[in-house]
Amino acid sequence: MGKYTINVNGQARSLDLTPETPLLWALRDSLDLVGTKYGCGVGQCGACTVHINGVPSRSCMTPVSSVGRQKVTTIEGLDPKHMHPVQQAWQELDVPQCGYCQAGQMMTAAALLKDNQNPSDADIDAAMGGNLCRCATYLRIRAGVHRAAE
Ligand code: FES
Repeated sequence: MGKYTINVNGQARSLDLTPETPLLWALRDSLDLVGTKYGCGVGQCGACTVHINGVPSRSCMTPVSSVGRQKVTTIEGLDPKHMHPVQQAWQELDVPQCGYCQAGQMMTAAALLKDNQNPSDADIDAAMGGNLCRCATYLRIRAGVHRAAE
């Protein structure tokens, strides 16, 4: 075990975990931030996407010992005061079906919109291509990104 202090959603959080513990499980099991989901556990599906220093990152593949002082943002901290435009668009357009992958989808979409305020369909497809949805809500996700960009 080791003691780690990581910055999650603007707060310093202390953890006592083995160094290789994935950030995903630190968030979910130790910090009760269960919005971030476990899908494949091997970096293939995007369900576990969080931002690390603003960059969409697979928390299932990120050892807690590697996080250091970087800023981790989860879906709970995407916009703690209001709904983030992506969350608002997702709600307005009823984007989710089962919903399981959608926190990861929204985290990737929010990162895209930070870099590109007016993405084309091709930009959206390229940015979101690593986030899988078994309900195939891809067209609604694309519409949601466009709505959030308005
Ligand atoms: Fe991390 Fe699938 S659970 S990419």
